[in-house]
Amino acid sequence: MHKLLMLLVTTATLLTAASVWSLSPGEQRIVDRIKAVGSVCLEGEECEGASTAAAAPVASGPRTADEIYSTKCFACHDTGAAGAPKTGDVAGWTARLDDKGMETIIANAINGIGGMPPKGTCGDCSDEEITITVELMIERSK
Ligand code: HEC
Repeated sequence: MHKLLMLLVTTATLLTAASVWSLSPGEQRIVDRIKAVGSVCLEGEECEGASTAAAAPVASGPRTADEIYSTKCFACHDTGAAGAPKTGDVAGWTARLDDKGMETIIANAINGIGGMPPKGTCGDCSDEEITITVELMIERSK
């Protein structure tokens, strides 16, 4: 029991010492390892060390083609609603590609065609985002 107490006191002293004295790299590594177990990283705070990386908030970077497809396009293109060519319909997409070519198909997706609204209802999608999403749909229809 006394040994455990001593260990706790030593650990606490080490942690305190770390902020007062400068430690050698070897000592610093040990202190970091002890700190990593007990430290809490809150969302929005700068997190130190790899052990806390998992707690980092999710970044809201540019959307992936998959994110756009599965929020904006799937409703029509998974089901064929309104006569939309289904994703995964290899024959249908191959015929479309042979008939019009990739550039026209992408332009039609951006500008709208028939029952397909401009940008497939993704009003805040850039042309580039529509392009990568069309490429993904075609990739999944080969
Ligand atoms: C409201 C239903 C609907 C939504 C949502 C929708 N589409 Fe479509 N899409 C259609 C229909 C209908 C067609 C067939 C138009 C035609 O050939 O007359 C079509 C056709 C297309 C084509 C083929 C164009 C061509 O020239 O043959 C592409 C590419 C396409 N959509 C991409 C997308 C993408 C990317 C999204 C999401 C950002 C999307 N669509 C969302 C209904 C939809």
